Amino acid sequence: MTKIATASRPATAPSADHFFTLPGERADNWRRLHALTRNWARGADRHKEAAAAFAALEPYEDYFAYPGRALMGALRARIGAGEAAGAAALAQRISEAILTRSYKEEANDWETDEAAADAPPDLNSTTMTPGRARRPYFEMLVVAPGVATRADHMIAGLRALRRPEDAMIYEGVPVPSFEDAIIAVILNPALAAVTLYEGFDHGTAKDVPILRSFLASAGLDAAHTAGEDLPLSLADAIKRIRPELDIYLLSDRRVEQVAGDPRASNVRRVLYSVEELLELHLCVLEGVADRFRTPFFDNLKKYAMRPISTFHALPIARGKSVFKSDWIRDMGEFYGLNIFLAESSATTGGLDSLLEPTGNIKESQDMAARAFGADHVFFVTNGTSTSNKMVHQALIAPGDIVLLDRNCHKSHHYGLVLAGGQPLYIEAFPMTEYSMYGAVPLASIKKALLDLKAEGRLDRAKMVDLTNCTFDGHIYNTRRVMEECLAIKPDLIFLWDEAWFGFARWSPFLRPRTAMGAAAAIEAWMNDPASVEAYERQQKELGANPSAEKLLKTRLIPDPRKIRIRVYQTNSTHKSMSALRQGSMLLVKDIDFASVEAQFHEAVFTHASTSPNQQLIASLDVARRQMELEGYGLVANAIQIALDIRREVNSHPVISKYFRILGADDMVPAEYRESGFTDFLTPGTTWETQVRSMHEDEFCLDPTRITLVCGTAGFDGTQFKKLMADDYDIQFNKTSRNSVLLQSNINNTRSDVAHLIRVLLEICAKIDRDLSSGGENARAAFARRVKALMEDVPDLPNFSHFHDAFRWDAGKKTWEGDMRSAFYSAYYPEGCEYLPLDSPEVEKRLKSGPEMISANFVIPYPPGFPIMVPGQVITKETIDFMRKLDVKEIHGFERAKGLKLIRPDHAKDHVRK
Ligand SMILES: Cc1ncc(COP(=O)(O)O)c(C=O)c1O
Repeated sequence: MTKIATASRPATAPSADHFFTLPGERADNWRRLHALTRNWARGADRHKEAAAAFAALEPYEDYFAYPGRALMGALRARIGAGEAAGAAALAQRISEAILTRSYKEEANDWETDEAAADAPPDLNSTTMTPGRARRPYFEMLVVAPGVATRADHMIAGLRALRRPEDAMIYEGVPVPSFEDAIIAVILNPALAAVTLYEGFDHGTAKDVPILRSFLASAGLDAAHTAGEDLPLSLADAIKRIRPELDIYLLSDRRVEQVAGDPRASNVRRVLYSVEELLELHLCVLEGVADRFRTPFFDNLKKYAMRPISTFHALPIARGKSVFKSDWIRDMGEFYGLNIFLAESSATTGGLDSLLEPTGNIKESQDMAARAFGADHVFFVTNGTSTSNKMVHQALIAPGDIVLLDRNCHKSHHYGLVLAGGQPLYIEAFPMTEYSMYGAVPLASIKKALLDLKAEGRLDRAKMVDLTNCTFDGHIYNTRRVMEECLAIKPDLIFLWDEAWFGFARWSPFLRPRTAMGAAAAIEAWMNDPASVEAYERQQKELGANPSAEKLLKTRLIPDPRKIRIRVYQTNSTHKSMSALRQGSMLLVKDIDFASVEAQFHEAVFTHASTSPNQQLIASLDVARRQMELEGYGLVANAIQIALDIRREVNSHPVISKYFRILGADDMVPAEYRESGFTDFLTPGTTWETQVRSMHEDEFCLDPTRITLVCGTAGFDGTQFKKLMADDYDIQFNKTSRNSVLLQSNINNTRSDVAHLIRVLLEICAKIDRDLSSGGENARAAFARRVKALMEDVPDLPNFSHFHDAFRWDAGKKTWEGDMRSAFYSAYYPEGCEYLPLDSPEVEKRLKSGPEMISANFVIPYPPGFPIMVPGQVITKETIDFMRKLDVKEIHGFERAKGLKLIRPDHAKDHVRK
């Protein structure tokens, strides 16, 4: 039996980054084989090593169409026969074809015969092989009993049906079993469709311990699926891993029999196996074409080609004012003609209106909803800053309480000011040593809800609003948070700000922790009769009137008959997918959406520009297309790149002297890692522990958000970010006092990693040189600087409380506050005062009052969260933090004037209730 779980892993690679990241390693394995065969051909004693390298990669190659059995057989034969030169030539050709992906276009790459492979390309070859016409290429998995017979036959038949006019071209990948199908779906990012031919087995002939543990944890192993309808179980399993894939079922059974199973909705089309293959071929092409379609972008391209004269208020459209100008023609040359041809107004030319879409924008939004697992999607052209404000405005009425992470993006705070919602700030756990906050513990959220309940004010709590993942990569257990909160208040609305995390939909690891992934899981759970039993069992155990303490300690199960799934997600599509800057989406999965739809449209009307940018809308459409067709591979690559960076920095003998990337154990305190998971790179971490951690832990770390500690190299975050940008053209995401945040995304390549590592090494070498040439003095100064950055860090100030004037509910010391009234109190200059930060008056007021009330938001960059909000009482902790801050940019604070305060005697005058 060939063991494929560990077969080709380099000895240094940690086990956790294997298997699911193999697509990225595949090209490396082939490059390595090529290098070995080349050295062997040059006379080095490398035959055994080449044979071993080939044997290590061979089992994986069954799951890819290219190089395919014929080329693999030829290479095996040449290695076996000791034909070094022939093996090297073929290994080189395959390796290059995989690396450059030329096999998708070059028919010659598929030739087993070297002479034929070197022949000039046959320009008419498009019908028989992936050929020179540049058509999108994909692969289709064919799961059928006895690979060598039925599936091969079918694939050959499908190939024979190709026509030059087909818009796309595909190759088949035959596998004989359920387990092989799962491996293929995980390993092969080029798959876009799957055909299941009834009669296949469950088990693979290969030895795959990692896969078995994955299937067991997902309830998909042979024990669970025995006696089940295997094709439908497989369709269900595939959809859980890659929901975007089209699945076809070739069945001899009656269609009604299949259709009766609820899982049949996973199958795009059931075909009688006796039917013509042509039907399947056309379905497959149509299915992919359906995802390829971008209604708005397609229409915009057509529009741009029309000869239009505009007498509209958009002179730049058609580009004549640019290209005919002596002075601004360079702009035209820089951007090219199309962007001007595609500039238009929604009110002309039938392009549909973003504010009230009924045509191709609506269609594009509906397609995005399908792709992201939402019921509705709104495209937003002013970033997630606007998406968040729209959600607040649409769902929150003045006086409603919103449970909110104080460290969330400012758009939430401002959104509440505008909507009149009252924030009940809940603190995230602090990471003082790195001057940042983590995420909000579920216990704190539950406690806030239970307190409101005890005070008889739970009805005012409307929404829980959290950032997933946080700027620094903390991922919530979205399902658990929603379930436990719904157990306390069954109609709570959730807003998950997934500004950074939109891409996570395309990773089977991360998807369950997205808003939409969790909402879908809860929905499925609600429909399972076992859920009511579980709920009632827990109610019995809890007894009548359980104490708050007991409720806090219990993992609460909501009542599946009562809860309402009302989940909203916002994501900056431009931050993690191929959308232009400010392209954002607002996702809705709200069972009660009909009751708020009109409000939603009002919110869109309030916040959206009446001149939305067509290119932004088109890019959102295209970003969706890309993710549906290649998102899985791109995200797997981004994760692999992140793991590579993590490993290279932390294990490099020179770089790791000065720099360190924080692991999950640094970023998430042990109490929130119930599974015991430490980090992706910890020796002994298995893929199984990683999956368990993603499943169980309160918080996980997004591997693609990488905190690099630079204080230990003597740099503060801002200084290091500037150095890297100015001197090395490397851009980082954000900074803290002693760290910078790097982010890998779908755009990164291995060359980016190589460049980063080379630069870090250069910087470390310089530090080494400076320290050794500067002698004892330089070393002492360096140590002092490192100590200052790493140890003398200011305590992070928690939110204090709102001033009594801005607390509702008849004098109760409530935690939530009427921030809107405080915000507008500051519009009356006579009611405000300024106190310089270092004035003795500040000390006096802190000691003996009257309390100092912040008149506005004060947001230092970094860390970027408001350390003061309007109406907040300023405490000593906040003043201490402000005094220690060494950042230049503090929004809402003018150093020359000092703190802007609401005069206590004035505070009450302008409060409207
Ligand atoms: C968590 C979070 N939400 C929302 C936003 C705003 O997104 P946008 O830049 O798309 O307006 C940001 C921006 O950095 C953010 O970090």
